[in-house]
Amino acid sequence: MTDDLLLYGSYGYTGDLIARAAVEAGLSPTLAGRDREQVEAQAAELGLDTRVFGLDSSRIVERKLDDASVVLNCAGPFIHTYEPLVEACLETGTHYLDITGEIDVFEAIAAREERAAEAGVMALPGVGFDVVPSDCLANHLVEQLPEATHLALGFTDLGGVSPGTAATVVESLGGGSVVREDGDLREVPLGERTRTIDFGEGARLATSIPWGDVSTAYRSTGIPNVEFYTGVSETELRVLKNLRSLGRLLGSGPVQPSCERWSSAASRDRTSASAVRARACCGARSATKRGTRSRRGCTGPRPTPSPWRRRSRCSNGCSTATPPPGIRRPPRPTGTIWCSTSRASRSSDDRAVVEARAEN
Ligand SMILES: NC(=O)c1ccc[n+]([C@@H]2O[C@H](COP(=O)([O-])OP(=O)(O)OC[C@H]3O[C@@H](n4cnc5c(N)ncnc54)[C@H](OP(=O)(O)O)[C@@H]3O)[C@@H](O)[C@H]2O)c1
Repeated sequence: MTDDLLLYGSYGYTGDLIARAAVEAGLSPTLAGRDREQVEAQAAELGLDTRVFGLDSSRIVERKLDDASVVLNCAGPFIHTYEPLVEACLETGTHYLDITGEIDVFEAIAAREERAAEAGVMALPGVGFDVVPSDCLANHLVEQLPEATHLALGFTDLGGVSPGTAATVVESLGGGSVVREDGDLREVPLGERTRTIDFGEGARLATSIPWGDVSTAYRSTGIPNVEFYTGVSETELRVLKNLRSLGRLLGSGPVQPSCERWSSAASRDRTSASAVRARACCGARSATKRGTRSRRGCTGPRPTPSPWRRRSRCSNGCSTATPPPGIRRPPRPTGTIWCSTSRASRSSDDRAVVEARAEN
C-alpha cells in the first residue's frame, strides 16, 4: 500500500536520504526516476512501489503523475528538471515540492503564481536546507523590524556538500554572484562583496554568493534589498576571484573535468568524520534606511547526511489541513509550512500534511 506522495530522483544521494526518512516516519512514497535498475533496486530494499520515467515527454510525465497527490522533486540541478514536473503538476492538479536553492528556478516557479492558484495547486520549492532555516530567520527578523529595507543572510561551516549540490554550485557560479537591489536581481562579480559576519562563533570573513534566498526572502518578506553570504577564508576568497575569468565556462567544455573532480571530492567529503560532525550556522541581519538594525542566528546539523526532516532544527510531523493553492514560501509568519499529500480536488478528511516548524 503506497501513499500518494511521489519522490522523483529518489535514488540520488539526497533522494535516498529522504526516501529512508519517509519510511522511518511511517510513509510509503512511490519511488521514481529515469533509471529503472536504480529505482527498482531501491524500491526492493525499502519495500515501496515504483514509477520509471524520464522528463522529456510532457505526455508521459503527466500520465505518471496521474494518481499522485504531491510530488517531491529531488532531481537536481533543478534548472534541468523543474519545468516538466511543475507543468505536469499544473495539468494534473498535483502539488509540487522540491529541494532547490537555485535562484532561476525559484523565479520561474514564482512566475506561475496565477496558474497555480487557478489550478488549485500548491507549489512550494526550496523545502530543504535551502531555504527553510534562512527564510524562517528572515521572516522572524521582519517581525522584529517591520520597516526593514535591507536584509543580509548567510551560512557557514556546511562541511562537505552532496554530489548534486557540487554540480549545482559549479553551474550557478558561472553567472557570478547575484543580489537583490531595489527589487531587481543584479549580477555582481564573485568575491567582490565581502563583509565581516559573526555567525555565533566570532567575526569572520564572508562573501556574497548566488543563493536562493535572494529570490525567496524578497518574496516572503517584501524587503527590496537582499544579499546572501557564506563564510570564507582569505584563500577561498582568492580562488573565487580567480574563477571570475572562467565565467560561463564553469561546468562546461574544458573546465568540466576539473569540476567533476571537485564534485567527486565533495561527495567523498560528505562521509568523512569531520563532515558528519560539522554544524551549519545561519545568520540574518536587517536594517532600515535610518540605520536601525536587528540580527538573529541559529545553529543546526549540516544539510547532509542528516535526513531532511531533522535538518536545520526543523521538526516534521503529520497532521490534517488544506494546502493553500499558489506559490508558497517555507515559513509563513508563524514559522510553519504546510504541504498536503492529498490532491486538491479531494475532500479534506483524507489529507495528510507534512509540517515543518522552525524552532526559534
Ligand atoms: N536544499 C537542500 O538542503 C539540498 C541538500 C542536498 C542536495 N540538494 C540539491 O538536490 C539536488 C540533488 O542533489 P544530490 O546530491 O542528491 O544529487 P545526486 O546524488 O547526483 O542525484 C541526483 C538525482 O537527480 C536525477 N537527475 C538529475 N538530472 C536529471 C534529469 N535531467 N532527469 C531526470 N533525473 C535527473 C539523477 O538521476 P540520474 O542518476 O539518472 O542522472 C539522480 O537521481 C541538487 O540540485 C542539490 O543542490 C539540496
